[in-house]
Amino acid sequence: MAEDIKEETPEVAPETSPAPKKKKNKLAIVGIVVGVIVVLGIGLFVWHEQPSFCNAICHTPMDAYGDTYLKGNVDKYGNELNEQEAMAMMAFYHKEKAGYTCMKCHEPVLGQQVNEAMHWITGNYTIQGENQVGQAVLEERTLDELVSAWGGTSGDEFCLKSGCHVNDDGSVMTRDDLLAKTANLDKTYNPHKPQHGEMACGQCHKGHSQSINNCTQCHVEAPVPDGWLTYQQAQKKAVVS
Ligand code: HEC
Ligand code: HEC
Ligand code: HEC
Repeated sequence: MAEDIKEETPEVAPETSPAPKKKKNKLAIVGIVVGVIVVLGIGLFVWHEQPSFCNAICHTPMDAYGDTYLKGNVDKYGNELNEQEAMAMMAFYHKEKAGYTCMKCHEPVLGQQVNEAMHWITGNYTIQGENQVGQAVLEERTLDELVSAWGGTSGDEFCLKSGCHVNDDGSVMTRDDLLAKTANLDKTYNPHKPQHGEMACGQCHKGHSQSINNCTQCHVEAPVPDGWLTYQQAQKKAVVS
């Protein structure tokens, strides 16, 4: 076999000079196709990082969350909010202050995304009900639930991690550091004080609705920053039907 080819090659080669050209053309086409795929891929990836992606792809159930982040003029329950109230929603606050995208908080771990896609396609997600403007609101996830879905260890990690809430020297903040840093909030009812054990960050700092000072469930004297809610006010606003 090897000999056959050897014999043929010298003969054919001079006359079939177009053949290598064809090969080149083929290569060029393959190159273009790969290029287009790469560009599409990057485009899709960049788009995927944009808030519009979540809404465009998963119309329901993401509609209720879009404006809490994009405009901040409503919470996920459809309540209208003023500017100060909008800044008490962590998604809007972090967009305004730090340019966060949805994905910066909702870490796009591949397994989780495939899972989400499957849930979406099969309609296998739990809806708490409809908000005041008829949009679906999902069952609220705690920070622990969100973080464990990405393979993280605890809810604290969502906020207190490298690149997010850190000390002035860049080291990861502990709860004690946070308490020291926010000592000015209140002497007796500092919300970061673990008076009765640690309270999860997400019990007060809400992503897509106004944050709540949960201490007010029992201590009416506990301070409520402007734009925030008392526990009782929050119950009234969290209306789904
Ligand atoms: C600052 C971080 C942050 C950003 C940015 C953010 N989220 Fe969230 N998201 C949260 C937190 C925290 C929760 C947990 C529930 C809560 O506090 O509202 C959550 C919960 C959710 C849930 C689960 C349902 C629920 O009510 O718990 C969905 C869906 C969601 N976010 C979608 C989005 C979309 C879409 C965007 C972008 C338009 C976005 N998020 C941007 C922090 C964020
Ligand atoms: C009991 C409610 C509550 C809990 C739980 C809570 N916070 Fe807060 N946090 C507050 C309040 C109230 C403020 C003041 C907000 C303001 O003044 O706008 C605040 C402010 C902050 C600030 C801003 C400080 C500044 O410089 O302005 C950070 C950062 C923060 N909290 C992080 C966390 C983290 C991380 C956790 C969890 C480890 C947590 N908080 C748990 C209620 C709470
Ligand atoms: C479910 C109800 C409840 C919640 C929520 C709650 N507390 Fe308390 N707290 C109490 C009770 C009851 C006492 C008095 C008995 C005791 O000391 O345990 C108390 C006592 C205290 C005291 C001692 C001074 C006093 O008023 O007696 C402080 C300080 C305090 N709580 C801070 C907080 C802070 C800060 C939060 C939020 C992070 C919080 N509590 C959330 C029920 C609560």
